[in-house]
Amino acid sequence: MSEQVISEAARRRTFAIISHPDAGKTTLTEKFLLYAGAITAGGAVKAHEGRRAATSDWMDMEQKRGISITSTALNFAYRDHELNLLDTPGHRDFSEDTYRVLAAVDAVVMVLDSAKGIEPQTLKLFEVCRSRHLPVITFLNKFDRPGMDPLELLDQIEEQIDLRPTPATWPVGTHGDLRGVVDRRSDVFTRYTRTARGAQIAPEEDVPAERAAAEEGAAWDQAAEQIELLTAMEADVDLPSFLAGESTPVFAGSALTNFGVRHLLDAVVDLAPAPTPRDDRNGKPRHLDEPCSAFVFKVQANMDRNHRDRIAFARICSGRFDRGMVMTCARTAKPFATKYASTVFGAERTTIDEAFPGDVVGLVNATGLNIGDSLYDENGAKVEFPSIPQFAPEVFATAHPVDTGKSKQFRKGLDQLDEEGVVQVLRDPDWGDASPVLAAVGQLQFDVFANRLDIEFNAPIELSSAPYQAIRLTDSTSADVLREKPGVRILSRQDGALVALFENKYALQRIEQNEPELVLDHIIAG
Ligand code: G4P
Repeated sequence: MSEQVISEAARRRTFAIISHPDAGKTTLTEKFLLYAGAITAGGAVKAHEGRRAATSDWMDMEQKRGISITSTALNFAYRDHELNLLDTPGHRDFSEDTYRVLAAVDAVVMVLDSAKGIEPQTLKLFEVCRSRHLPVITFLNKFDRPGMDPLELLDQIEEQIDLRPTPATWPVGTHGDLRGVVDRRSDVFTRYTRTARGAQIAPEEDVPAERAAAEEGAAWDQAAEQIELLTAMEADVDLPSFLAGESTPVFAGSALTNFGVRHLLDAVVDLAPAPTPRDDRNGKPRHLDEPCSAFVFKVQANMDRNHRDRIAFARICSGRFDRGMVMTCARTAKPFATKYASTVFGAERTTIDEAFPGDVVGLVNATGLNIGDSLYDENGAKVEFPSIPQFAPEVFATAHPVDTGKSKQFRKGLDQLDEEGVVQVLRDPDWGDASPVLAAVGQLQFDVFANRLDIEFNAPIELSSAPYQAIRLTDSTSADVLREKPGVRILSRQDGALVALFENKYALQRIEQNEPELVLDHIIAG
């Protein structure tokens, strides 16, 4: 059994694609599925209309905005490997969801729009990758259109995110007329032919250098010159520094026309790491062949309104998962029956019977499981993985039900969405649910919260922004002192921790300076 686990884990690649909105993450996801044979024509996943038919009502907002709020895990086979692609929400606004997803992957594909280079959202996401030491493969997308000089894009990567770019493939084509890519590792030039709207795999032909020079003319000369420069700079793909998060293999192409996509997908298999033992809370590695263990990185309720249920998405860290096995939740010590385990492909569910390290299982009816919970085989030793980092909230709001007759639904919704981590609900011990303060990393979390309370709990709310500028963790002794100060409010979190909210961050600074004995801890991200 342990040999099977080790060999199955070695076939897994669990990764996410990160990008600034519109750089092409959705298109690339779809093209990966096309090249892996998981879909037969481009257009199936990308079509926002298609998603509308398949997903629940609360995603109406997602449709209107044309953004992806829900994270799904796609599992597909490619070259005798099992790829798990975890979707990160692709909106401009910040969301804690993304961080949680990045806690569950082993590598990341970073997509850059080659006309725009590094954009703000990419920078922010990249910081998270760095803090988790995630290896990053870079895809320079949209070379079918005129864009920046690829050498300039490499400079940006090096300067702005401090990763040493090592081009694996290089574009051949001038002024947006992309002909194909050269694989610098083999010196093979692959020339592609476009298909209508890139709906099908692009026919490709490997062309020897001499013929390429004759047939591609100036485009070839330019690429050859740049490649020579890269070789002189020794900017070659280097596995150890990639795995250490110091260098990034760079691929070029066009997700829309499929040029260069196969090279990139091959790199996910050939370069990205297979699951490795994950450290538990005490820093002790949980070996892949130890009994089954997993941790929950996402909880979502009411994904499908016909089912009205709650799914916890768990990443398997060790052992073999068999549907029906009983797992213990480390936090509550309660057993959890896994009779209903599924994979979720888009909005479709398929029952999953077995899973291995790196896989994601959707545990249906997961009442009692929270984000960050560790699960372990009831017959094995207890294991607790480090909690998923909580990010310091940056925006605050208050919420009231529009219809006071709906306060029961409102309370139920608050509890549910707090547990799911959609927002953090902070309560005043004296006021209870009457006037909670909502805290989030980005404004969008509030919009999702309000939308879901309305649609799923039939409790429309009024949101007003709350005037707080900073938040700190505190204890009950310090809370008693802080409570007396103007512009400070003491509230409690779902986990019982006390937090202090400050209307003025300079007032906070003064308190920190003048009264160092008070407990005012940062909520640490990372
Ligand atoms: P996202 O998930 O990162 O937000 O990006 P998405 O894939 O939705 O792509 C954003 C836009 O960029 C889409 O155009 C898409 O067709 C286009 N795009 C993606 N990859 C490429 C590429 O390699 N070359 C070119 N030229 N365009 C690309 P749209 O007009 O917003 O949507 P649609 O009407 O094409 O669906």
